[in-house]
Amino acid sequence: MLYPQYVIDDLKVRADLVRLIQPYAPDLKKKGANWMACCPFHQEKTPSFSVNPVKGFYKCFGCGKGGTAFNFVMEIEGLNFPEAIKRVAESAGYILPEPVDDAQYAASKKKREEKKQLADQIVELNQVALEFWEGELQSKDAKTAREYLAGRGISEEIHKRFRIGYSPDKWDALIGVLRDFGADEKLIARSGLVSVNEEKERTYDRFRGRIMFPVLDVDGRPVAFGARALKPEDNPKYLNSPETPAYVKGDNLYGLYQGKDEIRKKKFAILVEGYLDLIALAQFGISNTAASLGTAFTPEQAKLIGRYAKRIVINYDGDDAGVKAARRAIEHLLPQDFDVKVLVLPDGMDPDDFIRENGTDEYNRRRGQAATFLRFSLDAAVKGRNIHNARQKAEAIEEFLPIVGAISNNIQRRETFDQAMNFFHVEDAGLRRELWSRRDSRLRAAS
Ligand code: GTP
Ligand code: MN
Repeated sequence: MLYPQYVIDDLKVRADLVRLIQPYAPDLKKKGANWMACCPFHQEKTPSFSVNPVKGFYKCFGCGKGGTAFNFVMEIEGLNFPEAIKRVAESAGYILPEPVDDAQYAASKKKREEKKQLADQIVELNQVALEFWEGELQSKDAKTAREYLAGRGISEEIHKRFRIGYSPDKWDALIGVLRDFGADEKLIARSGLVSVNEEKERTYDRFRGRIMFPVLDVDGRPVAFGARALKPEDNPKYLNSPETPAYVKGDNLYGLYQGKDEIRKKKFAILVEGYLDLIALAQFGISNTAASLGTAFTPEQAKLIGRYAKRIVINYDGDDAGVKAARRAIEHLLPQDFDVKVLVLPDGMDPDDFIRENGTDEYNRRRGQAATFLRFSLDAAVKGRNIHNARQKAEAIEEFLPIVGAISNNIQRRETFDQAMNFFHVEDAGLRRELWSRRDSRLRAAS
């Protein structure tokens, strides 16, 4: 009996090595990016056993033992691999699916490979579409589109960097191109590039008369598109690709491909909501950015950014929806040990509005003064509430607690909790103990 590969992949991300190893190495302490302890596998007086929870590896420089969370429990408890999976899952609070037998496993593997192949074919069509739309932006029919982009201060250099395009206002412009390319009808229908009318058995271009923003994965492959309407009366304002075998919502970030080098260089990322927020910042010379695109921020997105930097400034819209979304992003970033700050711009402005009105220096100045996640979360919890009223104070604390539960580092978690209790004037030790014990379960219930 076997567990599907995705379970093992999931667990590699979710495994909390520090929590897992601590019982066997009680002196485990944070030293820079790593944690150090005396090796649990051999006798020693000075610590040479190192744990990197972010990369998910441990290594002893004394005896040479090292590996993943699975290796650790196999080695220390003498477990086999399936038992190790169970043990790691338990410690990470991960619910395992039923294991599968060899035949089921082979079938699911085959299905995954077919899906991957289909995904590659769709990316190939997306590439054709991207190049077609990019060319169309230069056409006579795209004059309004070009004027729209110019009106928003977007230069041609930026068009090129982000591969911005224009989809002609016709029912079959792209379909014609895809057929000429030799794509078969079944693949076209599944690509997300067209809409299918089942009754009339007709397919037509999904994107018409819109500005096209390709969503590239971190390798630069077009996996999806976002498309903005030109006129305020056109609905919806943004039309996005549906999910396809090539595109799972929440698995990508817009602009990360263009921003990743700068994120690595600057050692932090700015997270915005919209396509045009990211593009406006780029236009003003700020490129260490990624956009989450109006969907709820996911742990996968956190993991992607984490490849390039572990510091992040969330700069969502200043409205209620933006504040809520920022909170959710914080809850997914803290478990992966990010240093999180939040920048809320004045008067409900988004980054695009703000930087065009105030320029790069003023934006950077505000960004330098971004609130810590703690400050932001406390303010958000008490906003609109009277904390001198017992009931409203209780609500504010309940709303805040999941943030504490999300912090991965034990010491930081406790410290943050204590600061928050002081902020809320919770002095009673018994009550503090009760609230402390509730932080984790609240987190799971909320996510
Ligand atoms: P502009 O109005 O072009 O400046 O865009 P914005 O980014 O300021 O828009 P807004 O704050 O309204 O939305 C932020 C993000 O949410 C957008 O970039 C889109 O990704 C997404 N979004 C906005 N409106 C829609 C919509 O009507 N449908 C969908 N699917 N997504 C939308
Ligand atoms: Mn905007």
